[in-house]
Amino acid sequence: MERDHDGTQDPTPSQKHQPKRRLPVLTYLDSATVRHKHAEFLMPCTINYYAEPLVLRRGDGMYVEDADGKRYLDFFGGILTISLGHCHPEVVEAVSEQLRTLGHTSTLYPNEWIVRLAEELAALTPGRLQKSFFTSSGTEADEVAVMLARLYTGRQEIIALRYSYSGRGMYAISAMGHAPWRPIPPVMPGITHAPAPYCYRCPFGLRYPDCGVRCADDLEEVIATTTTGKPAAFIAEPILGVGGFITPPREYFQKAVAIVRRHGGIFICDEVQTGWGRTGTHWCGIEHYGVEPEIMTFAKGAASGLPIGITIATPEVADTFRGLTLSTFGGNPVSMTAALATLHVMRREDIPGRAARLGQRLRHGLEELMEKHPLIGEVRGLGLMQALELVEDRNSKVPATRRTGALMEAARRRGLLIGRGGLHGNVVRIAPPMLVSADEIEQALVILDESLQEAAA
Ligand SMILES: Cc1ncc(COP(=O)(O)O)c(C=O)c1O
Repeated sequence: MERDHDGTQDPTPSQKHQPKRRLPVLTYLDSATVRHKHAEFLMPCTINYYAEPLVLRRGDGMYVEDADGKRYLDFFGGILTISLGHCHPEVVEAVSEQLRTLGHTSTLYPNEWIVRLAEELAALTPGRLQKSFFTSSGTEADEVAVMLARLYTGRQEIIALRYSYSGRGMYAISAMGHAPWRPIPPVMPGITHAPAPYCYRCPFGLRYPDCGVRCADDLEEVIATTTTGKPAAFIAEPILGVGGFITPPREYFQKAVAIVRRHGGIFICDEVQTGWGRTGTHWCGIEHYGVEPEIMTFAKGAASGLPIGITIATPEVADTFRGLTLSTFGGNPVSMTAALATLHVMRREDIPGRAARLGQRLRHGLEELMEKHPLIGEVRGLGLMQALELVEDRNSKVPATRRTGALMEAARRRGLLIGRGGLHGNVVRIAPPMLVSADEIEQALVILDESLQEAAA
């Protein structure tokens, strides 16, 4: 290698193109230009919230700032994905260091970070879940789960729930229980939809607890009438996220899963939204229900915003998948490191305990708002995953879809970001990063109060 006149080594050809200084920050575009380019160059299915979409430029903890310099308290965290707040310094530091060390290998080579995360997951998840496969999204995590269930059982039929959501793949579009999210008809045969455990709008017109959790018992009839009688698996979210944080009654999963197992099927629990402390007290949402799944999936908040999909299974289920497969980006050292750093902070800060405590405060405040605002038909959720279902009238329960839009806009004007869900878009989803403080919850409640007033007018 040649030496420079100052004695330093001449860079190798592959290093020559590397800039010596940091690149300058890209010149910022203003909001109007970004919106204009978005309309021109992105597919129109790339939907945005708000009549005038919000162009975000930076984030810091519980706050984000738009391209015009206005700050917002973020109570939706990029769809329950910013688990610990924006740009958490420990996650940023770990990811930056990882990028400087080794950014990508593909799963063709084992690396330290993938095995460390897999080992952590085996300890964190309930029951005998042990072996993981990593991908880059919740959609893929569910795809892997369904394929595994089919391989393990040698059966094909999958029971999903109405009002559920699984993502954007062909399986997901077939399995989800929402027409508006399904641009083409279901293309995957063998998927059947059981009634949702949606107490506020009970599919049987009953009332909990007198109903005896009929929606769970109905699985017996679903299996008898819509399958061959031999289902491969039942897939369900502990709280149906996109469905509007529909929270099943306590007994639901024990009864439902017992029926499926009696017929030889297994249980896939989709924890893409509920995963890792969000529901309070436990790491996983299903632990509130005392059921141990054979397969579980995670994504969203697991890596604090870096792409990740996780499918974890019991050894006997996992070991049936022996063919060739790979995920180019799945298990990449950067996402693995982001997830390890996220878990490290979560353990130190006791995120499940925090989510339970602060979730209780949030829930109490929302219930007080319900006493004041007839627009709120129901408050539901667990931990820091709480929803308001908005109705025109509490007797008719007609979904207040337009007013939900008005509430979102009013909250935005006051500096609060919240989410929206439900089949009719009439459910407000509230899921702040889990390092939220009691003060920030109070601020959000004040803004919600004023915004509900405005939306009802
Ligand atoms: C419960 C659930 N499963 C799967 C998915 C799909 O995840 P992704 O958008 O990362 O593909 C989502 C996304 O919202 C989800 O809420």
